[in-house]
Amino acid sequence: MKKELVKKFKEIYGAEGDIRVYFAPGRVNLIGEHTDYNGGHVFPCALTLGTYGVARKRDDNKLRFYSMNFDEMGIVETSLDDLTPYKEAGWTNYPKGVMWAFGKRGYMVPAGMDVLIFGNIPNGSGLSSSASLEVLTGVMLKDIFGFDISMIEIALTGQYSENKFNGCNCGIMDQFASAMGKKDHAIFLDTSTLEYEYAPVVLENAKIVIINSKVKHSLVDSAYNDRRNECETALKELQKVMNIQTLGDLTEEAFEAHKDAIQSEVRQKRAKHAVYENQRAVKAVEALKKNDVAAFGRLMNASHISLRDDYEVSCEEIDLLVDLAWNMEGVIGSRITGGGFGGCTVSIVKNESVDQFIEKIGDEYEKRVGHKAEFYVVDIGDGAGRLEGFVDAG
Ligand code: GLA
Repeated sequence: MKKELVKKFKEIYGAEGDIRVYFAPGRVNLIGEHTDYNGGHVFPCALTLGTYGVARKRDDNKLRFYSMNFDEMGIVETSLDDLTPYKEAGWTNYPKGVMWAFGKRGYMVPAGMDVLIFGNIPNGSGLSSSASLEVLTGVMLKDIFGFDISMIEIALTGQYSENKFNGCNCGIMDQFASAMGKKDHAIFLDTSTLEYEYAPVVLENAKIVIINSKVKHSLVDSAYNDRRNECETALKELQKVMNIQTLGDLTEEAFEAHKDAIQSEVRQKRAKHAVYENQRAVKAVEALKKNDVAAFGRLMNASHISLRDDYEVSCEEIDLLVDLAWNMEGVIGSRITGGGFGGCTVSIVKNESVDQFIEKIGDEYEKRVGHKAEFYVVDIGDGAGRLEGFVDAG
C-alpha cells in the first residue's frame, strides 16, 4: 500500500524532496452513543481501516491536494492565504479546516504542502472517515513542521475545525479514537474531563462484526445538531432545579426524580437516552473487565433500543439489521453505531457463528432492502502516525 501511494504521489507531483507517509484510522464505537457532547462516557476503538496520506513540504504558500478516492477532481489547488471553506472544494475542506484550526490555536502553518490521500473507509458509513482525515492532517503538520502538539490536542483541533470550519457540531469521540487508538484495546473516555483508560478487548471465542447498511439518509448533520440542541435545552431546564454541569453527571435515579423539570416530552426522551446510555457505557466496561461478555452484549442491545425509541437516530434498514442479528444464534449483542440515520451496526458474534451471520443476514437484507450490506470482521488497530518506522501497511 505504502509503495503504491508513494508511486502515485511521484507521478502526480514529481519525485524530488522529502516525501512522508502517514495513516489515521477510522473508529467503531462499542457503546456510549451520543454521550460525547453530553459530558458522558464513550468506548470506541480504532480500526485498521482508515485514511492514508503522503505529503511533502513546499517552499511557497501553495496547497495542492489530490485524493485517489476522487480522481475526477484532479489536483485541487489553493493556498495558505485562503483558508476558507468552499462548497466546491469538497473533501479538501477537511485538511484546510485543520490548517486553519492549527493557526487559531497558535500553530501557524509556515509553508504550503503537496498532499495525496487515499482512504479505505467506505464513505458515509459512519466509521469516521472525516475525523480520520482531520487527524491525519494534524499528524502531518506536527511531523513536517515540528509543532510541539500532543495527540490529544490534535484530536481537539480536528474537532474544532469540524465544528467551526465544516459546520458539524460533533463531539470529541471520533477524533480522539483516531488519534489515541491502541491495538486490541478500546478507549474508555470520560468526555467531560478527557480522562481515559485503555481496556483490552478480550472476547473469548467471539468477534466484533460491523455491518454497513450502505444507507445514508439526508439531513444527518442537521438532525445531529438538532439532537445536540435538544440536549442542551434539557440540561438548562434541569439546571434550574439541580446543580449539575452536564447530563453525564446524572444517575438514572436522579434523572427520574427531576425529569419533570424538562418541559417537553421529546426533550425528556433525548435527555433520558443521554443519561442512561452514559450509565450503560460505565456498566459495560465493568462487565468487560470481569470477562462478562454476555452482560456487555445485553447492554449493547439496550443501547440500540434507546437510540431507536428515545433518541430516534435509527432507521428502518438499521433496525432490520439489528433485528436479524438479535434473532440469530451466536449473537451476544448488536446495535447501531456512530451518529445514526444509516451507517453501520456493530455486533459481537461467537466465532463459530460468524460465517453464518454474514451469509444469512447478508441474504435476508438484500432480499428485503434491495441492495447488499457489507460486513467487516474488526481488527482493532493503533492510532494515527507516520508510517515509516512503526507500521508497514504492506
Ligand atoms: C458522530 C459524532 C461523534 C458522536 C457520535 C455519536 O460520530 O462525530 O462525536 O457524537 O456521532 O455517538
